[in-house]
Amino acid sequence: MANGLDDVVAADTVLSDVDGAGGHLTIRGHSLTELAGHWRYGQVVRLLFDGFFDELPGDAELERAIGKARVEVFERLQPMLGQLAPLDIYSAMRAGIALLPDGEELADALRLVAAPTVLTPALLRLTRGEKPVAPDARAGHAADMLRMLGGPSSPALAKALDTYLVTVCDHGLNASTFATRVVASTQAGLASAILAGLGALKGPLHGGAPGPVIEMLDAIEASGDAAAWLSDEIARGERIMGFGHRIYRVRDPRADVLKAVVRRLGTRSETGSRLAFAETVEQAALEVLKVAKPQRSIQTNVEFYTALLLEAAGFPKEAFSNVFAAGRVAGWIAHAREQQATGRLIRPQSRYVGPVPDLVA
Ligand code: ACO
Repeated sequence: MANGLDDVVAADTVLSDVDGAGGHLTIRGHSLTELAGHWRYGQVVRLLFDGFFDELPGDAELERAIGKARVEVFERLQPMLGQLAPLDIYSAMRAGIALLPDGEELADALRLVAAPTVLTPALLRLTRGEKPVAPDARAGHAADMLRMLGGPSSPALAKALDTYLVTVCDHGLNASTFATRVVASTQAGLASAILAGLGALKGPLHGGAPGPVIEMLDAIEASGDAAAWLSDEIARGERIMGFGHRIYRVRDPRADVLKAVVRRLGTRSETGSRLAFAETVEQAALEVLKVAKPQRSIQTNVEFYTALLLEAAGFPKEAFSNVFAAGRVAGWIAHAREQQATGRLIRPQSRYVGPVPDLVA
């Protein structure tokens, strides 16, 4: 039995390829390094959606349409935000998205692209006792998210966040993308499929890891001894957050892209000293993992430097998975559309190992 479905191919896709041995990520024919820092998130949304929606406009027009979708989502959901805000920030975002129309048109897709970017800052502001800030349809997607959040903002920070959104936009058949494709295969609407992806992303073995990375860094800083703290965690059977991957046997290429972004941000701020500390923790973790799990190559994954980048961008750790969703949602939508266009109902078999009924009367 394929416990965890290792090596099972469950879809043909033109969207992305994860080369776990070589440490390469390809998104629709482009390497990650070609896209990250060079393409805007709106352009990557277009790249992913191309061929999956009729009459997809050009880059500039699509980016304007995403801006308008941000405004529309804000106006639709604003009356409900007060009720959602007391929930944890991820559940509140997910509940807000569940209130959007469950259609299949480009307009439905763009509302879903916009929703995490709009809901996350609005909900964070409400929990701080502040009024949500309305989106600006003309602003860049990442710049607008920072503007709505109301913390420090600059073109460099907006570019860093935009690069993050591009870096995490799609990544093969990971758990949340698979969940999205399963729901899309039933011909439920796009919002239903995205809600499945959101459910899977939340877990700490997937997109829930970057918040705990910050907790780990803080705990190690307080303990003063990274190697001892990490060894103790392993001895207690805990996992080191931000390390390990089902597919990558080498370093996750997204980790290096995001580390370079943090380094650029950190030259003149406290981000620089945070980065230097994180690098020593990373080194210690890699050494501890090598000794503790010699049979498995456990390397740094995307979440380790995600945590530093999103912290530097002014997001609280509780909202890191929301920001991950703001990037990944474009990939989920493209996969949902691809599944509907090319796939069948996903319905694997299970092997019954329970008790059998007593057929003797
Ligand atoms: N810390 C300690 N041990 C680890 C770690 C880790 N980070 N990752 C894997 N292992 C160990 C397991 O304990 C297990 O050891 P054992 O054989 O002695 O029992 C062995 O490696 C295999 O574990 P699996 O769960 O089967 O390995 P898999 O490759 O499927 O795990 C996963 C991938 C779930 C991401 C894992 O590495 C992990 O839990 N990492 C920490 C959480 C994390 O960073 N998640 C984000 C992943 S990136 C993303 O989803 C966007």
